[in-house]
Amino acid sequence: MAIAVRKFDALVIGAGGGGLRAALQLSNAEANVAVVSKVFPTRSHTVAAQGGVNAALANVLPDNWHWHMYDTVKGSDYLGDQDAIEYMCRAASHLVIELEHAGVPFSRLDNGKIYQRPFGGQSQNFGGDQAARTCAAADRTGHAILHTLYQQNIRAKTHFFDEFFAIDLIRDEEGYVLGALVLEIETGEPLFIEAKTTLIATGGAGQLFRTNTNARINTGDGMAMALRAGIPLQDMEFFQFHPTGIAGKGMLITEGARGEGGYLVNGNGERFMERYAPNAKDLASRDVVSRAIYLEVHEGRGCGPQKDHVLLKLEHLGEEVIAKRLPGIRDMVKTFLHFDPVNEPIPVYPTAHYTMGGIPTNRHGQVVVPEGNSPEQAIPGLYAVGECACVSVHGANRLGGNSLLDIVVFGRAAGNHISDYLKQNRYHRPKPQASIDRAMARLARWDRQGEGESIYALRDELKLIMEKYCGVFRNREILTEGVAKVQELARRVPEALIKDHSKVFNTNRIEALELENLVELGLATVTSALARQESRGAHSRTDYPQRDDLNWLKHSLYFREGGRMDFKPVRMKPLTVESFPPKARVY
Ligand code: FUM
Repeated sequence: MAIAVRKFDALVIGAGGGGLRAALQLSNAEANVAVVSKVFPTRSHTVAAQGGVNAALANVLPDNWHWHMYDTVKGSDYLGDQDAIEYMCRAASHLVIELEHAGVPFSRLDNGKIYQRPFGGQSQNFGGDQAARTCAAADRTGHAILHTLYQQNIRAKTHFFDEFFAIDLIRDEEGYVLGALVLEIETGEPLFIEAKTTLIATGGAGQLFRTNTNARINTGDGMAMALRAGIPLQDMEFFQFHPTGIAGKGMLITEGARGEGGYLVNGNGERFMERYAPNAKDLASRDVVSRAIYLEVHEGRGCGPQKDHVLLKLEHLGEEVIAKRLPGIRDMVKTFLHFDPVNEPIPVYPTAHYTMGGIPTNRHGQVVVPEGNSPEQAIPGLYAVGECACVSVHGANRLGGNSLLDIVVFGRAAGNHISDYLKQNRYHRPKPQASIDRAMARLARWDRQGEGESIYALRDELKLIMEKYCGVFRNREILTEGVAKVQELARRVPEALIKDHSKVFNTNRIEALELENLVELGLATVTSALARQESRGAHSRTDYPQRDDLNWLKHSLYFREGGRMDFKPVRMKPLTVESFPPKARVY
């Protein structure tokens, strides 16, 4: 079958903040750029980021990038690569001001400067008093950034393929990535987007878990494509549970609510965070607060008839502050819980939020894989940024406000590197037909008819397995069972059918392809979690309760073939400053 082809210099898969920041850099450098997005770009999940973006502007309290770097290294439980962290924290202020000038409507202080709020894990002076580093547009910061970047891309003449789904990367025999096979969702027609470079910016995989803060689109498509192209995934055992999702539903209540002065209480009315983090209290880092909530509930000190959540109190902030700083939260609580948080506390519980692991990259966004004795060989023509990538600035636990920063810093860095690459690789290479045929075969597998299990039932089952066997606390027994259960489910997927509908729509086929992707990532996550025999950041093993720097201060790599694990060193050496050696992590 002849497949339609479109040629571009650069292909960007995903239209969240990372993809759009890279595309903008490239279009402004006069590259011919295609952005493929399975949803209309401004529906990408960046739109849901609430609390803000970190930069040491020092608008509210004293601050500097080096303190930000220290907090990020400590927050990562020392697994973050310190060269990338230095690069990100140094670039932050410049890039936030750049966003301001591009049109992001940040909230303002009385003196006209950008408003900054305290967030978890932030300190002044290397672990001293609380800092206020998170630049906010009320509680809709991601929305403001995404819309601004989209509009700037339209102005820069970036070419958008809206509602196109990426099937697989196209790679030639010499290892060059030369674009992707995509599917136009409306027509069901495949299209080969041929490109000299391909950037994966498809976001995370929060849909792996039943209760999550993520959009339904967050099915880890880019990470799964990378796995199928022979690329390992790094540090997949580290999945962040945000402490304050609406209990039982999962929707995000921003950390900014605690930044504004909100606090958590248990069923006895006690401010329990004082016991777990005597200094930072409710603004300890997320892994610490999530574990504390889990323990309060599981030790019988929860709230409500089932004692299955804790309460986030905001009433004391008063209507004026809530209306000004947290209007989105107020609307959401009114819509989904039918009361006003001005009058009543919000029931919250940890909820799956962020994929710390992902496609291994360096700080230029190049995808890097181990080869021979070298841990880092760049794959020619392939880049990844944002939540689908692991650069690694978040290590074992991301600090709130660092994800919006990650996407603008590394989106821009990847755009710059791709521009240079394009100058040295001026022509398209020959089309690798075998790779295109393999991608087409993946699509064709979902054209069959007959009897079989429903893909929707399998997706629900996977989410339950992940929640039960790979949650906030893990151990060998639970994880071993989890691996077996996901493997067994993976064996059932090829026989599954697109059922539950009298008609089959193209969106049903997309959900089948997403299910395949989720299963790949479920396997990667639970296998990596079983492999890491220590507790670090968001990975809490009850059978190995301590951090073990001697044996485990290293990144994990999961390979699809045979579920093999490998490891590579953490880059402890920053670019220009002294490194922060691991020490006990207390808040
Ligand atoms: O709590 C929040 O507003 C989330 C921010 C983040 O994940 O960075």
